[in-house]
Amino acid sequence: MEQSLDEIKWKLNKYGQMHLLNGYEKLPENKQKELLSEIQGIDFDLIDSLYKKTKKGNDLSNDKIEPIEYVDKLKLNGYYKDLENIGKKAILEGKLAAVTMAGGQGTRLGHTGPKGTFDIGLDSHKSLFELLSDYLREEGKKYGIVIPWFIMTSKENNDETVEYFAKNKYFGYEKDKTIFFFEQGELPMVDTEGRILIGEDGLVKQAANGHGGIFEALVKNKMTDKMKELGIEWVFIGGVDNCLVKMVDPILMGIAIEKNVSAAGKSIVKANPQEKVGVFCKRNGKPYVIEYSEISQEMAERRDVNGELVYGESHILCNLFNISAIERMGKTPLPYHSAFKKATYIDKDGNKVVPTSPNAYKFEAFLFDAFGELDDMAILRVKREEEFAPVKNATGVDSPETARELYKKFYNV
Ligand code: UTP
Repeated sequence: MEQSLDEIKWKLNKYGQMHLLNGYEKLPENKQKELLSEIQGIDFDLIDSLYKKTKKGNDLSNDKIEPIEYVDKLKLNGYYKDLENIGKKAILEGKLAAVTMAGGQGTRLGHTGPKGTFDIGLDSHKSLFELLSDYLREEGKKYGIVIPWFIMTSKENNDETVEYFAKNKYFGYEKDKTIFFFEQGELPMVDTEGRILIGEDGLVKQAANGHGGIFEALVKNKMTDKMKELGIEWVFIGGVDNCLVKMVDPILMGIAIEKNVSAAGKSIVKANPQEKVGVFCKRNGKPYVIEYSEISQEMAERRDVNGELVYGESHILCNLFNISAIERMGKTPLPYHSAFKKATYIDKDGNKVVPTSPNAYKFEAFLFDAFGELDDMAILRVKREEEFAPVKNATGVDSPETARELYKKFYNV
């Protein structure tokens, strides 16, 4: 129900967020309405509790953390062909769709525009979106089909992303037939005092709610219904910034089907105990990804009789789920984590502030926090140099330079 301006003011006062209306009078009428509707949509109790938790990590002290079983793709021997046949059959029957999560802000990379439009510097100057589309189209051709592609955007980058695809004729895909776009949810950003920020447009400064928003976004935007209409049963979900992401993997499909589990994830061996990656494990008997900040040194360094790290299966955001698991996860609220980021905003006196260092909290859900909804998950260890070339930072590790070299080496270009 629509609230009156007085009711809204009362609410803002209660939560110490009156400043949100500082620029209200100066806004054109349509923006005033938009601002009020945004404010009415904010769950102030949630934002308040998230702000209060920004200094606290996840508490795992009462949880039972155990290693998770995995299968090494390189050591499947005779079993390889069997799994491949199972997976290939399902792909051929049109049961696989690919989802690319492209709603992130890419703040570390510092590229203006959607991260998927970034050119990693290959001779072809193809963007990440084009590299992924080349791969997916070619894989489909091997099966004589077109593998449906679903792209998650955020409110911030949706228009630019769709325009980019339209300009490039959807790289051979057909909009709303074989390629689909949908937006993820967002949450307000707050400053170090817990005050919600106002952006340059005079409206509430919101940011995408993290890659964990994928499940809710797939369900709310009825993408899961669309998938079911298309006969899809399995959905590969990966990021836009890994230019070696292998979205069509019959072994991954085969292993999920053969083990009769609702999800399968790819892992790569953790380079060393200190590497800053999350690793697959079990938490209270359910699949989980424990972050580098959560794992004790003893656990990080623990090795098995073969000298391998017991917690060494790094999560690379390459996972496969069946539709019913997605529907279940899409209805389960996930915990939010906070990230301290740089955010340009309008201060209480109406001045634009462009920070040079992080100044605001963004709240994000992580995809792997939904794994607790799964009974089990098959983990497939793959080779880092074949499947993982992320573009995260402008320079140094996981940068365009490292990703480009890995891509060139793998595809021999
Ligand atoms: P990252 O966690 O690396 O975040 O995303 P990012 O937004 O790309 O970069 P930074 O942290 O701001 O520098 C991993 C993948 O998840 C997607 C990203 O687009 C990327 O493919 N993602 C992340 C979303 O789709 N939505 C989000 O809200 C966050």
